[in-house]
Amino acid sequence: MPIADVAQSYTDLVTTVFSSTIAAKAWFATAAVVLGTFALAKAHPFEPSAPSTSSAATGDATRGAVVFERECSGCHGPAGTGGGVGPTLAEAGLDTATVTTAVEQGRGIMPAGLVSGQEEADVVAYVVSISTPSD
Ligand code: HEC
Repeated sequence: MPIADVAQSYTDLVTTVFSSTIAAKAWFATAAVVLGTFALAKAHPFEPSAPSTSSAATGDATRGAVVFERECSGCHGPAGTGGGVGPTLAEAGLDTATVTTAVEQGRGIMPAGLVSGQEEADVVAYVVSISTPSD
């Protein structure tokens, strides 16, 4: 039996039993509206849109290593160990926010936006992974 019918049957029943006063009728009319709204909500469940995991993609450090060697190692050295014009990133203790800001906005002679989208997420994950002190 559809839930709307259940609600209607219930409303009819309690109205019949308790309809001795005008006040009771008014009360049950209100109850019927509430139950009807409830039944409608059940009949048309709200379907949330896909969970809003922000537009920022999830980074993959393994893929990020490849991006890093291509885009960043020229200045930051292989695996971020330094030796170029950029500072050593390995074990520098950088967090995701710091690395993301550096990549998006640039730093000193480091150009902004060398990578974006998935590659950005990947290279940030990689830099954070090599930046985390090993002990
Ligand atoms: C042209 C050379 C160059 C390239 C290419 C480059 N960087 Fe840099 N990067 C630098 C320099 C120089 C700095 C330091 C700037 C300053 O602080 O004045 C820096 C700073 C940073 C910092 C901040 C370090 C800190 O201690 O806060 C991060 C993180 C970083 N770079 C990551 C990257 C990543 C990731 C890439 C590749 C997408 C990249 N860099 C490519 C030169 C470069």
